[in-house]
Amino acid sequence: MRRKLVIGNWKMNGSRTGNTVLLSGIVAGLASAKADCAVCAPAPYLAQCQAELTGTPLAWGAQDVSAHASGAYTGEVAASMLQDFGCRYALVGHSERRAYHGESNAVVAQKAQAALAAGLIPVVCVGETLAEREAGQTGAVVGAQLQAVLDLLDNAALAKIVLAYEPVWAIGTGKTATPAMAQEVHALLRQQVAERSAEAASGMQILYGGSMKPENAGELLAQADIDGGLIGGAALKAADFLAIIRAAE
Ligand code: G3P
Repeated sequence: MRRKLVIGNWKMNGSRTGNTVLLSGIVAGLASAKADCAVCAPAPYLAQCQAELTGTPLAWGAQDVSAHASGAYTGEVAASMLQDFGCRYALVGHSERRAYHGESNAVVAQKAQAALAAGLIPVVCVGETLAEREAGQTGAVVGAQLQAVLDLLDNAALAKIVLAYEPVWAIGTGKTATPAMAQEVHALLRQQVAERSAEAASGMQILYGGSMKPENAGELLAQADIDGGLIGGAALKAADFLAIIRAAE
């Protein structure tokens, strides 16, 4: 039985004062949470997350990580540095990184590998654009994104990753994939992993992301292959984020 996992992706939002209000609001409502939960904050606020969340049930992580271990890579943040600040997760391959920073499937796979090497759990994001969906290419697109990761990781490493399916057309648009649409892609992804390792596939948490909110979380999270959520906008309000976590229990 896979545990549910709900991760808030703050994207480029936050301030020291606002973060304290949000984090304390979430933690106050988490006392009996049965799902795993975390927030992925902008890098400058990871020290604040460590200071304010250590000893609470809310984990924290980064929104990106370098594919390199250390050295002359100006502006990059190494996985070991994230680990130094207590991060449990690192998102890799979010569609905004792929679209605005030109991250290829191969680079995303290298980032997943770098995260694992430092003891972090990479949350590998995949998803198709609206044009790709309308052209009937959803399976091929997310399949290729996942395949790059399968090509680089061995079975033991594969068993440690989290996958997130985020249809690009559903991110921040208010349009959510129907539970059936999301389930269909999640099942495809799990099947693709199973062709490499049945064990990794059956244990892998596959999250859905894209306009998930308290009103639609219950039906999405009830699908057989949806093991949690990667939440953008609704993770910026403690009450909404908590309602999604409760829907996951
Ligand atoms: O990573 C989370 C994400 O891209 C979904 O954002 O605002 O549609 O929940 P949102």
